[in-house]
Amino acid sequence: GAESPVVVVANRLPVDQVTDPDGSTRWQRSPGGLVTALEPFVAGRGGAWVGWSGSAGEAPEPFESGGMSLVPIPLTEDEVDRYYEGMSNASLWPLYHDVVEKPEYHRNWWDTYVQVNKRFAERTAEVAAENAIVWVHDYQLQLVPAMLRQQRPDLTIGFFLHIPFPPYELFTQLPWRSAIVEGLLGADLVGFQRPAAAANFVQLARRLHDLPARGSTIEYDGRTVAARAFPISIDVDSFDQLARSPEVLARAEEIRAELGNPAKIILGVDRLDYTKGIGVRLEAFEELLEDGAVEAPDTVLVQVATPSRERVEHYVHMRETIEQQVGHINGVFGSIAGPAVHYFNQSMPREELAALYRAADVMLVTPYRDGMNLVAKEYVAARGDLGGALVLSEFAGAAAELKQAFLVNPHDIAGVKSQLLRALRMDPAEGAKRMRAMRRHLAKNDLDHWASSFFRALNDQASGQPTGR
Ligand code: UDP
Ligand code: G6P
Repeated sequence: GAESPVVVVANRLPVDQVTDPDGSTRWQRSPGGLVTALEPFVAGRGGAWVGWSGSAGEAPEPFESGGMSLVPIPLTEDEVDRYYEGMSNASLWPLYHDVVEKPEYHRNWWDTYVQVNKRFAERTAEVAAENAIVWVHDYQLQLVPAMLRQQRPDLTIGFFLHIPFPPYELFTQLPWRSAIVEGLLGADLVGFQRPAAAANFVQLARRLHDLPARGSTIEYDGRTVAARAFPISIDVDSFDQLARSPEVLARAEEIRAELGNPAKIILGVDRLDYTKGIGVRLEAFEELLEDGAVEAPDTVLVQVATPSRERVEHYVHMRETIEQQVGHINGVFGSIAGPAVHYFNQSMPREELAALYRAADVMLVTPYRDGMNLVAKEYVAARGDLGGALVLSEFAGAAAELKQAFLVNPHDIAGVKSQLLRALRMDPAEGAKRMRAMRRHLAKNDLDHWASSFFRALNDQASGQPTGR
């Protein structure tokens, strides 16, 4: 039921332990959409959260924070290198995102992935109460469901994948494909962002493992495993409230003024990740400047590119490319009055992002592939004034829901340019209509809806299992 104890297991805790130059340590909010979505849910239920602190070395003792009980898992330098940066973020991340960059496969990365997944499963088995619900998250921990079930058959186990799940032809590149499928099949319910991803998984179970599968369920090991889509969302009301607060509204005005009160502000907010299509955005904006369709600093682009996975090679590379591109555009189109692109390689707090969303005339979200993209949803939630326009990639999960956005194919620069221009020149009445429709969708499909749909399905699934439960 809604009140049974819940243990969330994710690679990252909601807070990161950071060490300041003077050697002292403190905790700060972890990056990314997984934490944005899960934190209010776990805090609201007073649940436990098993995860890594974000730095190598010994793990602190479990502690209470923000109404949650946090259980840190230690990782050594080598494990960070092989399990997190290697297997998770240089093999699985690019493979699952349609091989936007080429995945690398190394046996020692895999061995460490198995070893770390085992540690997560063992620790979770220790902290979960009898008959508890355990909810495992994302691509870093795909072996945990089966490992956990083996140790604790009393538990109800759900899994949710926050990123896309690739089709058969791509997934089967993975030398350890069978182990991953078997790991996930340890869950009672495997959740995905999109129905196509769930279908990909069912197809794999059928074709690769010869398992009987019907519709969204798979028969495995005497149990029935369900694979279904649950598109993730944000705490819409609280973001809406935040974006209406006098402080945020004042800050939005201040941002516009500090940018020199430009006629139009275009905004991008992403982790600095190659799946996000930041380069496409810069290219489209640069061409519009060249064409004379827009002029700087009358129209400016503000790009927040939050540091992410900074030791992984593709990320190092990407940062250099993006920063060169920004430098080039500003060299040509900037003036003493100000640059054309305002670029921030920094992490911004929620309040500042809310103010940026309010200040922006056009939000530009152009990933090549994205499980959902919560930034797009936050922008809509922040625009209670019905102002602003959203330009959104068809290849983000959010595009299936935010249909009144200006949808673009990020591989088609001409298309991105023309949709961006349409968004910039849109009649405010039309904009309000689009925004109202997207807000209506989000109001019904918020974080609560996501979590409660998942839990309802998980309970149904677990209570229907045959023996010993
Ligand atoms: N975010 C943030 N500060 C930043 C950049 C991003 O707090 O400087 C947050 C953003 O508000 C959103 C999340 O990080 O909640 C990003 O989620 P999304 O699903 O868009 O992408 P992900 O990073 O998970 O791939
Ligand atoms: C995405 C992933 C999360 C991850 C986040 C931040 O949202 O789905 O699992 O936590 O990015 O990435 P990081 O590698 O810093 O945890």
